Amino acid sequence: MKLAVIGTGYVGLVSGVCFSDLGNQVICVDNNPLKVEILERGEVPIYEPGLKELIDKNKAAGRLSFSYDTKSAVEASDIVLLAVGTPSLPNGEANLSYIEQAAKDVAEALNGFKIIATKSTVPVGTNEHIERIVSEHTNFPFSIASIPEFLREGSAIQDTFNPDRIVLGCLDQETLNTLIELHKPLTSNIITTDIRSAEMIKYASNAFLATKISFINEIANICEKVGADVTRVAEGMGYDQRIGSSFLQAGIGYGGSCFPKDTEALIQIAGNVDYEFKLLKSVVEVNKDQRFNIIRKLQEALGSLQGKNIAIWGLAFKPETDDIRDAPAIEIIEELIKLGANVKAYDPVATANFKLKVNHSSIKWCDNALETASQSDALCLLTEWSEFTRIDLVQLASLMARPILIDGRNVYDPIKVKEASFIYYSVGRPHSA
Ligand code: UGA
Repeated sequence: MKLAVIGTGYVGLVSGVCFSDLGNQVICVDNNPLKVEILERGEVPIYEPGLKELIDKNKAAGRLSFSYDTKSAVEASDIVLLAVGTPSLPNGEANLSYIEQAAKDVAEALNGFKIIATKSTVPVGTNEHIERIVSEHTNFPFSIASIPEFLREGSAIQDTFNPDRIVLGCLDQETLNTLIELHKPLTSNIITTDIRSAEMIKYASNAFLATKISFINEIANICEKVGADVTRVAEGMGYDQRIGSSFLQAGIGYGGSCFPKDTEALIQIAGNVDYEFKLLKSVVEVNKDQRFNIIRKLQEALGSLQGKNIAIWGLAFKPETDDIRDAPAIEIIEELIKLGANVKAYDPVATANFKLKVNHSSIKWCDNALETASQSDALCLLTEWSEFTRIDLVQLASLMARPILIDGRNVYDPIKVKEASFIYYSVGRPHSA
């Protein structure tokens, strides 16, 4: 099939590349010429394992190209996938201006029947809004569909090729048949539904996963007070198939470009129809506070943080990505600076992005993990990159001014850190002195 993908952010780029790898002819469009140039040069604007290789392969096979010309890409396609961003407005609502502009541009480029399918996460009713915009700007026939995306950063290709489910929301059987055909090579459960339900499935899924994380983080906070171990509690809960073991890792809370934005948006969607989503509001509140446990633990270990040298391992919101959007590290580092600490920070790939967001003379950017920890009064692990989990703990302790380790992701074995003479704080596990 012939596809035009509008928007080369995470979702658009990965989806476009994966669909080309499945044998489709794909043009990925972005209105930022710089981004298109980068992609055409063979470089990838995001860090995503395996993506560059897949782009090179499919470009060489002549199935994948990049363009900033929406018109010619749409003209050459049977299906248009809308994958532009829907960032948060200050009140938490999704900003639909990019999607509205894309719908108008696509409408003006139509030269015959096309399916216009939305992959972006959009509030319930948005696809009907898109339908109205397109109708107002074309006389050609078209049909709309909602096919939400469930890929995770860091494992985006694997997730796209092996989805737990494919949700196809559309209005007519012919469109459905075409979309089923497009997704046929992906052996997965296909859920066919109306468009509003498809839009809601995406928000409900992300909100539920965020709820699991805030739930286990609160259990962790209670575990710390009653002397239980949250990792064992989560393991014991996870064997119950009704609960499931995933997304029960206690830590410093969720970040990234999706959960914070989508939980806020769903609260707004509910509010717009006079429904107060009390549970989700609490999930968000718990998440906002959870990251500051790192500061509280540092203060418990060191007293005042004024003039203390604090090492930070990990700036990305999770491993295997250079994405720092809503990363807990942002607020943690800003708070440390406010409290007068000197910060040394390192991330295997996200430092350049982080510097654009947070830069201050009290932060020293380091090139490797051990240099960061050297001579520090405490080390905080914020992102569980494997480079940090494999470190030689005895050597690490010997380099530090004080062997205080605050593990925000529960990656270390408390017995091993104790053997290496660390004073060790983790999340929801008894701390060892
Ligand atoms: C999330 C969803 O998992 C995807 O299904 C969805 O497609 C995507 O949002 C989206 O809406 O586009 P992503 O944000 O890439 O994907 O990353 P996750 O792996 O879900 O992690 C999100 C955050 O939760 C990270 O900060 C991670 O550290 C945190 N997390 C995750 C925990 O704190 N505990 C866990 O047990 C799991």
